[in-house]
Amino acid sequence: MDLSNKTCLITGANSGIGLEMTRCLNSRDCTVLMACRNTYAGDVVARNVCENIDRIKLYKINLASLASVKKCSDQILRDIPKLDMVILNAGVFGLPWTLTQDSLETTFQVNYMSHYFLLMNIEKILAPDARVVFVSSESHRHVSWPFSYQLTPTKDMVSLPEHAYTSIKAYNVSKLCSILFMHYLGYRWMNTGKGVFCAHPGSFVKTRLCQNWWPYEVLYTIMRPFSKNICQAAATPVYCATSPELNGMSDQYYKDLKRCEESELAKDLHLAFRINDLSQELLLERIIVEEPDIPVEKQKTEHYADQDKDSIDVNSLVANYSG
Ligand SMILES: NC(=O)c1ccc[n+]([C@@H]2O[C@H](COP(=O)([O-])OP(=O)(O)OC[C@H]3O[C@@H](n4cnc5c(N)ncnc54)[C@H](OP(=O)(O)O)[C@@H]3O)[C@@H](O)[C@H]2O)c1
Repeated sequence: MDLSNKTCLITGANSGIGLEMTRCLNSRDCTVLMACRNTYAGDVVARNVCENIDRIKLYKINLASLASVKKCSDQILRDIPKLDMVILNAGVFGLPWTLTQDSLETTFQVNYMSHYFLLMNIEKILAPDARVVFVSSESHRHVSWPFSYQLTPTKDMVSLPEHAYTSIKAYNVSKLCSILFMHYLGYRWMNTGKGVFCAHPGSFVKTRLCQNWWPYEVLYTIMRPFSKNICQAAATPVYCATSPELNGMSDQYYKDLKRCEESELAKDLHLAFRINDLSQELLLERIIVEEPDIPVEKQKTEHYADQDKDSIDVNSLVANYSG
């Protein structure tokens, strides 16, 4: 497939499935905009795995900050006239309860809310036949909301307060919200050439996703022989972003390169509209102030904002990559 006239934005492109998708699309001459929390780390890994490094552009984004998302989208709007593909891939799992600087629960904001904000900001430069892909998860099936919740969703249902929080619940809700957002966009873009898809990459794929809590790390390691590797995990989202077989289609959930039914709750179009309204309200309530620039030299040593980790070890990012 020749993608030399295509431009794709990928969030969380410096690691795991995002990095493999970057490598794969770039090997077909696609220009990839790598939106990463740390552009220094992104640059190092891209130089190690990408064939056409001149077709890689790096953008700094911290999805735990709406100001950072705004700044990144403004930069993209200034630099890029047209986006053919957007893969909303970045994600976190297994975090202890924390609030972001925008007073939203971190998993919800990183996995869903900031992607919503990013996409709404860059919608105007999407090509007429653009594809948007959410890297989703089968775990969305585990959310069960009572009917009253579905009629009028509230902030506490999606941005979980501490007393209601478990990391799995927060992750499942964030993935459900992404599928509902796909349905909203499917409706919004009906009768246009734009397509929107959700793709489940595979379960227990051993990436850095499980690094936040050691029992998950052990579980993912045990499951490794039975689960997809990173290349296989990247296949379904890449298929959704590029395959000519999906021309003219939209608003569909994929797993193992095949269309699949999402959960009943995730199919609810009324809920999709209510969650969209709630997302807009949450954004309107927040004043988004521009972030100052962080010099690249400082990014080499800055700590990952919301993970309480030691300073970035780019060598381990490259070593962990098993694509
Ligand atoms: N692995 C699985 O079994 C599995 C299963 C189902 C779905 N998924 C989904 O697949 C996607 C990719 O995950 P993965 O397995 O490849 O995990 P990963 O290797 O941990 O990659 C996650 C990416 O998200 C980025 N990210 C995290 N927090 C961020 C923030 N605040 N701002 C900007 N970027 C941030 C990470 O950046 P840093 O390097 O800076 O941390 C990293 O690049 C996720 O959406 C995940 O939910 C994975």
